[in-house]
Amino acid sequence: MMGQAMDPDWLAAMRRVRRAVVFTGAGVSAESGIATFRDALSGLWARYDPASMATAEAFAAEPDLVWGWYQWRLRQVAEAQPNPAHRAIAALATRVEQLTVVTQNVDDLHERAGSCEVIHLHGSLSATRCFDCARPHQLPNDVLAEVAEGQRVSPPQCGFCGGWIRPGVVWFGEMLPDGAFEQALDAAGKCDLLLAVGTSGQVYPAAHIPQHALASGAWLVHVNPDPIAPRAERERALQGPAGHWLPQLLELIGDVDD
Ligand code: OAD
Repeated sequence: MMGQAMDPDWLAAMRRVRRAVVFTGAGVSAESGIATFRDALSGLWARYDPASMATAEAFAAEPDLVWGWYQWRLRQVAEAQPNPAHRAIAALATRVEQLTVVTQNVDDLHERAGSCEVIHLHGSLSATRCFDCARPHQLPNDVLAEVAEGQRVSPPQCGFCGGWIRPGVVWFGEMLPDGAFEQALDAAGKCDLLLAVGTSGQVYPAAHIPQHALASGAWLVHVNPDPIAPRAERERALQGPAGHWLPQLLELIGDVDD
């Protein structure tokens, strides 16, 4: 099954996993049709300068441009379906004593696949709030009407203070949601296995999490179509799409009851 030089030590360790952390990035949603950020041709940051779309300054300067862009992404997510990787990750909860899902993604595809209590390090597209007073704002259902890429859309205004409503994502230069990083780090420090799925590992502080698991004695397994050279004894890389590898890992992990 695991054709990629999977040694007996690694296989045995995977069967014995009791506490797992799955740490995901944009790549886990790629097979659902959601663009990643750093792929050379199709990545969002290849088409847009992050500073022009993903900062508070950009929103303050051109709220309709930035809001339109996030509404377009929200529509893409609403039209997308969870893929076999999201589903295998949700099912992994039944194979181990403790599973913590930590994602850098702002979509809800883990939840729609059945994962509960997902830690969203970079917030959620749909968790909208006021830019000025930070009160949460419930979007009406009709906001998902056709929004084209690049279309400007005026953000709604806060019912309390009249400020613009902003997406619930973490922009560059902003703090992560309260407690999210600490919770993720805590789980990473206590797990036997951290699966890093579909992330380029370039955005900090999120990218510390896999290294923290490794330094705390866990196995670190990367799943990525890009080649990743393992540097530690307990580190492995499975090269290929998440939808290919996660269902296979699901069969293997936690297979031993002793
Ligand atoms: P990136 O776009 O940086 O990386 C996506 C990774 O997914 C790459 O390593 C791809 O090789 C891999 N990939 C592509 N297709 C895949 C597939 N089918 N299966 C598995 N992996 C696949 O996305 P992230 O690492 O998530 O932050 O980026 C981290 C953060 O940077 C994002 O949360 C976002 C962005 O700026 C904010 O917006 C704050």
